[in-house]
Amino acid sequence: MTRKRLIAANWKMNYGVEESLKYWAEFTRQPLEYENVDIVLCPPFTSLYTMSVAISENEKVYLGAQNCFYEDSGAYTGEVSPVFLQEISCDYVIVGHSERRQIFKEDNQMIAKKLVKVFEHDMLPIFCVGETLEEREKSQTFSVIEAQLKDGLVGINRDQIAQVVIAYEPVWAIGTGKTATPEQAQEVHQYIREHIRKHYGSSFANEIRILYGGSAKPENIRNLISQDDIDGALVGGASLHPDQFLDMVRQCNMVK
Ligand code: PGA
Repeated sequence: MTRKRLIAANWKMNYGVEESLKYWAEFTRQPLEYENVDIVLCPPFTSLYTMSVAISENEKVYLGAQNCFYEDSGAYTGEVSPVFLQEISCDYVIVGHSERRQIFKEDNQMIAKKLVKVFEHDMLPIFCVGETLEEREKSQTFSVIEAQLKDGLVGINRDQIAQVVIAYEPVWAIGTGKTATPEQAQEVHQYIREHIRKHYGSSFANEIRILYGGSAKPENIRNLISQDDIDGALVGGASLHPDQFLDMVRQCNMVK
């Protein structure tokens, strides 16, 4: 079974409206003729609407938010409703990024509620999991990933599971320049696919896309995606440069 690859740019807290448009102009200087990979751009909230309008003229690029809240409306000062994201035609929402888990104390239970909400509003989640360096050194990688998957996906039904995009992002590799080796990443990706197989069955396990994230860049993307269970990447730092991100898109577009 061939899964269509997906590459997502996580701009994090970078690029306001003006800079986002400048990026877009550079990114689309050449026609984006990539048939074998889905491209997702995840700008910060205040740039989303502008980017939604820009992207709507381009069938090749999807729009993603970096987070959302798990209620539709109410007294939640500073939060962003999934209803608002749906209204501006967001396609994807990153849920459970390690920066949200660590800095904003999001736990697996909160993340589970967000995943349900994203589906309720016709968007798809990019659901992040990953262990810290300490956990890896204590040989807890698989048990941490197992708990994140089990508790995070608790509200997701069989009809939805194949559409969840999972991103394996070892926390020690994010923004550090230290990439997991293709073999280290593959080992965890395989474990994740096996978890899906065990709980939802083989056909869903074969369909679900599992991305790698953590210092992915043009120099290492090819070796990562050539692994059997790596279906693309969630890219932070390197995605801030349109030329580097395009280079990665091109490499992902090449058939296995
Ligand atoms: P990085 O970030 O590519 O800068 O390591 C990845 C991510 O946090 O999604």
